This record gives sequence, structure tokens and C-alpha cells, in this order.
Amino acid sequence: MTNIQSLIAQLTLEEKAALCTGATPWTTLPVDRLDIPPLVVSDGPHGVRFQKDIHTLNTESYPATCFPTASCLASTWDVDLLREMGHALAEECIALGVDVLLGPGVNMKRSPLGGRNFEYLSEDPYLAGELAAGLIDGIQGKGVGASLKHFAANNQEFQRFSISAELDERTLREIYLPAFETAVKKAKPWTVMCAYNKLNGAYCSEHHEMLVDILKEEWGFEGFVVSDWGAVHDRVASLKGGLDLEMPGPREHRVKAVVEAVRAGKLDEAVLDEAVRRILYIVFRAWQTPKGGSFDIQTHHRLAQKIAAEGMVLLKNDGILPLQGHRRIAVIGRAAKKPHIQGGGSSQVNPTLVATPFDELQSRAGGVELTYAPGYPADESIHQGLIDEAVVQAQAADLALLYIALPADKESEGYDRTDLDLTGQQTALIQAVAKAQPKTIVILNNGAPVAMSAWIDGVAAVLEAWMMGQAGGAAIADVLFGAVNPSGKLAETFPIKVSDTPAHINWPGGDGVVRYGEGIFIGYRYYDAKEMPVLFPFGHGLSYTTFTYSNPRLPAAAFDDVDGVTITVDVTNTGSVAGKEIVQVYVSDQKSGLARPPKELKGFSKVELQQGETKTVSIHLDFRAFAYYHPGYQRWITETGDFDILVGASATDIRCRQTVKLRSTLNLPCRLNKESTMREWLDDPRGVSVLMPVFQLMLAQSNQVFSGDAHSESANRDLLSLILDMPLLSILSFQQSTLPMPAEEMVDGLLEQVRSME
Ligand code: BGC
Repeated sequence: MTNIQSLIAQLTLEEKAALCTGATPWTTLPVDRLDIPPLVVSDGPHGVRFQKDIHTLNTESYPATCFPTASCLASTWDVDLLREMGHALAEECIALGVDVLLGPGVNMKRSPLGGRNFEYLSEDPYLAGELAAGLIDGIQGKGVGASLKHFAANNQEFQRFSISAELDERTLREIYLPAFETAVKKAKPWTVMCAYNKLNGAYCSEHHEMLVDILKEEWGFEGFVVSDWGAVHDRVASLKGGLDLEMPGPREHRVKAVVEAVRAGKLDEAVLDEAVRRILYIVFRAWQTPKGGSFDIQTHHRLAQKIAAEGMVLLKNDGILPLQGHRRIAVIGRAAKKPHIQGGGSSQVNPTLVATPFDELQSRAGGVELTYAPGYPADESIHQGLIDEAVVQAQAADLALLYIALPADKESEGYDRTDLDLTGQQTALIQAVAKAQPKTIVILNNGAPVAMSAWIDGVAAVLEAWMMGQAGGAAIADVLFGAVNPSGKLAETFPIKVSDTPAHINWPGGDGVVRYGEGIFIGYRYYDAKEMPVLFPFGHGLSYTTFTYSNPRLPAAAFDDVDGVTITVDVTNTGSVAGKEIVQVYVSDQKSGLARPPKELKGFSKVELQQGETKTVSIHLDFRAFAYYHPGYQRWITETGDFDILVGASATDIRCRQTVKLRSTLNLPCRLNKESTMREWLDDPRGVSVLMPVFQLMLAQSNQVFSGDAHSESANRDLLSLILDMPLLSILSFQQSTLPMPAEEMVDGLLEQVRSME
């Protein structure tokens, strides 16, 4: 292994500065005299977009497999499948000469309007973290690096280069960081890409607390931090903040600025050396994987088909699917012939092949006659003639399949969506066709939720086929005909309307600031807390079979937080075909010091069951499954008490519930102080023991005042509720005349006693 320290010692200051900024938009600086090779990076995330000309930013790329985008990947809930996809991505990187693939993206879907939501996995940090870890593990298992992005709180496109995401520490820790944290700790990505935006006022590219304190020190990240392309504003400040590699390059003035800052004593050379060390560590790691050769286009296409089929979500089915016994099917919608496979922006892959939905149907349809009508144009214009034509065909057929894709420019990097709607023409088309043909099935291609209230009641089935990748057209046919039993479940809530969504009144911010006013309550955490109906809940997805859950069990009635606990349940396929069920485990804290979401996903498992088969599913829940981040203690804490463990088929379809007592083993420092209220004293185990004698005295005195019949428990209760939220010091001050010493001294004494018990 190359001795990196000795190389650093041999590099000139100019070379070191130049190594920390790209040599081209996609490569780092090679230093021939020391045999330091360049590192080649490429987008990402759902396929390799490796440019034929590495000196340009957005020109033609080599053909590569376009896998489904992240919304579809997440709906598989299948960590192993994502690992398999990671292997395939790595094989393509190796063949094309790419060292690091720029993905996956794990930012939370704070609002369904986020322009890049199709590139992100989920509204739930646990699910996103587990899936990303699987994908990274797959890529890196073959000796190619991943780049986990965009770190952090990059949840919208509006003012994306400058906006400051303003959020409190608990929200950051519980919602916006854990997917990164899990992926970093479990899968050790070679690189992490910082976000464009500011986080609480500081650019993510200069954010020492995020890049150094949390990512590198607390989580132990060993690779390098790369800027998003163009995210650096002040190179010296970014180096000090922990940003190792600036991209894209070349940027001569940046190199010069770093050299001058070191010479002027404004930048410690050790900081530069550390960035170089991290970059070289990855450069040489990548170098150990020889590049070149080819990849198997057909095998990867079939894998993309399998993943697309696993990620498609059957949202509604009145029994019409899977298709059987029809003689004439009207195929309507231009997406049947012009497949919508991915979103806009830097992630756009040049596919090796593209499966056309209509042709794939045809190849499975046997003697069934298929007709075709485009139904709607590529843009948002209205063409009544196309609707009329489609209606005629639908009436003449036994059944209508409506392929509806959002216009390609609706979902892209660079800007957010303004609404959740299909185009006016598409809505009118669905309504008209469904009226003429009750057996109408809608197949959707989009990267994020769309509104459906205007038409969903009139159609027989809805299949969410997502931005399905290059083989998605074949996957749709597999699902429609039942060759694949759908098993995908939503990794994000489909709201009824945009004004229902958690971030609605704080979206997208303005004047440089977006306030995350909903705090920890995003996605189903919000809809649960508000008891608000949704179109389709988080975790929802239908199958052609049915599953029952039975015999939920825990090993004991209580457990220590550090041990965690395992919930076990039996799942049976009670229908008539084989299928897969995604078992979801949510944890609900019955009582906690700070408000918590009604329930949170903390485990899941995807099981395949033959007809009539039963399998036992065990899911372990660790310390973090029960903990929450306490800003006062600045750490994850558990509290002794009862938790409900909910096992369900979706966030709103809970099949069994077990209650268990958690024993917290934490010995937290006492946070009582002179301002602490009576309630805080009584809630603190040490506080209550010290305060009790004083408290008894106070009650006795108050009983003397309110004597007679009222001298009763209810009088004590009244007094207690009156004083519970008053500072102890104020209560005692009001009773100063009855106290043996000044109230302040008395509280000081009590505090001292409490601290002596720590
Ligand atoms: C995107 C990144 C991407 C990079 C390189 C940026 O605009 O935000 O996700 O990896 O460009 O293309």
C-alpha cells in the first residue's frame, strides 16, 4: 500500500492545493512524477452518466443501464436487491473507467413538490438509510466508490445554491441526518458530497460542525468530502470547514487562493495536508480496481426490469388485475409508446436499451387484440380530439389501459414542482375514458406523488410505475399480466392535496431562508399526529394475494435499552398465488419528556411466501429504535417506560401490537437549575428525592391555610396543578416568611445535594 504521508511530504504546496480542486469537471489532478493517478468520478445515482468528453459538463455520455430512479428503488424495500443493483452499477463503472459513482442521494422528501424527489429515497430516515447502505455496499463491494449526497438538508430546488435551511438541532438529528449517519456507519462510502445550500446560516461547503464535528469525528467518516458541482464560495473557508475536494475544475484562482492563504499564515498547512491525505487515500484505493472491459447489457437490462417490477406499487385494484380473459384491450396514452424512464438534470443516463410498454404488452398478450391511441400530447396543451379518439377505442374494447406520464419537464433538478397535478388534458382523458369504460386501469409514470381525487373513484385499478428505468415497460407488462405479483410499497405518503402537506406553509421560503417549521413532523409522522386522511399512506401497496399476521411475541415484558428487543410475528400467505409481503415495524412511545411522533418506522422485512405458506419474521430493535435526540443533553436518550411495538402492512394498517417496558440504563447529568419548575424537579429522579421533604412541608403548610373539609386530597391536587409549572425558586420566594433561610440559598442547597448524587 502506498505510503500517503511520505507522498504528501514530497508534494509541493502548489501540487497539494491543485489536488484539492478538480483538474477537469470529472477528474482530480494526476501527479506523474510521484505516480499519483487521477480519480475519475461520474453521475449517478441510478446509472452511470459518464461523459464522452470529460472536459465538458453536460454533453453526450456513454450508454449505460438506466435503472429505475430512487422513488422506485425505495418502494422495493429490498436491501439485497439494491446491493445487487450496486454490483451492476460498479461493473459498468469499471467497464467505463469510472472510480467513483456520484450517488446515492438520501435527502428527506420534506415536501412532495421537491424537484429532485425522484432522485431521493424516502420521507423516512430509517428506510432511506438502510436502503442507501445496501446500495453503497453493493457498489463498493466491487471496488468502486460511492458518493453519498447531498449533505445536508438539501430538500428543495428553489434558491438551491444559496437558501439557508433553518432547522432546530433535534429535527436535524432525528430527521435530516440519520439516513446519512446510517449509510456512513454501515457502508462507509468513499466520499460524501456536500449540499449547495446553507444550513442555519452557513454554507454546507464550509460547515465545520457538519463536515468535521459530526461527519468525520462523531460518525468516523474516513473518505473525502467533495463539493457539489459549484457549491464552493470561498475555497479557504471551505478547507477550514472540512471540504476536501472542490468540483468541478479546473479553477486556477482557487488553487492560487489556497497557496496564498498558506503562505500568509491564514490557512494552517496541516488542514490542507489532511484534505490531501483523504483524497489520496481514495485515489489509491480506487487504483486497486483495474478498469476496462465491458459489461453485460442484457443481464443488466433484465436486472433493471426486475427492480422496476419489485418497486412498482399497486395502489388500487378492484379485482380487475391481473389481466385475464380479455379479447380486446385499448392501450391509451403516449407513454405506452414513448416511455418516461427518468427525470431531468445531472442524473440523466443514456440508456443502452429501452423497453416500450406497448411492445412488451403485445409480446405477452397472445391472441388479445391491442389498439392504441396517444390520448394526450407531450406538453400541457389541450387536444379534445385526442380524448374523443381514446374514448371511442375504450368503448370498443373490453378494457382500457391508460399510460399516464407526467410531462418530462415537470420533474427535474434545478426547480421544484408547483403542484401535484397531472396535466389538464390527462385528467380530462382519465375521466372521459373511465366514464366510457368502467374497466379502466391507470398506469402512472412520475417520480413523486400526484393528486388523484378528481378521477380515482372512477377507475378500476391504479399502478404506480414510477420513473421506471429503461426496462420498466417490460416490468409493467409483467405486473399487469401477473407474471410478477406486485409487492412494492410506498416509501412516501401520497397526500390528498398539496395544502395538506407538512411543509406547506413554510414552503419554499424566500429571501434566502426556508424555515422547517414542521420540525420532526414530516411525512407520516405529520399525518399521524394530525389524524389527517391521506390518499395513500406510507407503506401502502397491494398484492394479488393476501397476508395475515399472527402470534406476535416478545422475549420478555421488559428489556434494557442497550440490549434492544426482538419482535417476532408469523406471516401467512392466505391467497391463491405466491407473493411477497413487506412487514413494517413501528415504535410508539407511550409517554416521553419531549413530544414525539405517534409512531416511527424502526424495522422492516420483505418475505416471500408461497400460497398457504407461513414464515416467522423476527426484527431486532436496538437502542436507537427507542431513543430520541434531546437538545438539552445534546445526545440520544432513552426514558424508562412503556413502548408499543406495532407490526403492520402499512403506516395505517397495523396488524398487531405488543407493549414492552424499556429500562433506560443512561445515567444522564442533572439538568436542574435555578429556573427549573416544580414539574422538572419532580420528573427528575434525584430531584424528587431531594425535594420531597421540602415538598411535604409545603403541602402541610398549605393544608393549614386551607383547613376544614377542604383539607383533602383535592385541595392538594389544586395546589399542585397551580404550582407545577412555576420555578421552584418562585414558589419558595412566595413563602419566604415561613422559610428558615432565603429561598435562593435553599434552592442552591437543594441543587448541591442533587449534584452530589451524580
Ligand atoms: C448535482 C449533483 C451532481 C453534480 C455533478 C450537481 O448539479 O447537484 O447531484 O452529482 O451536479 O453532475
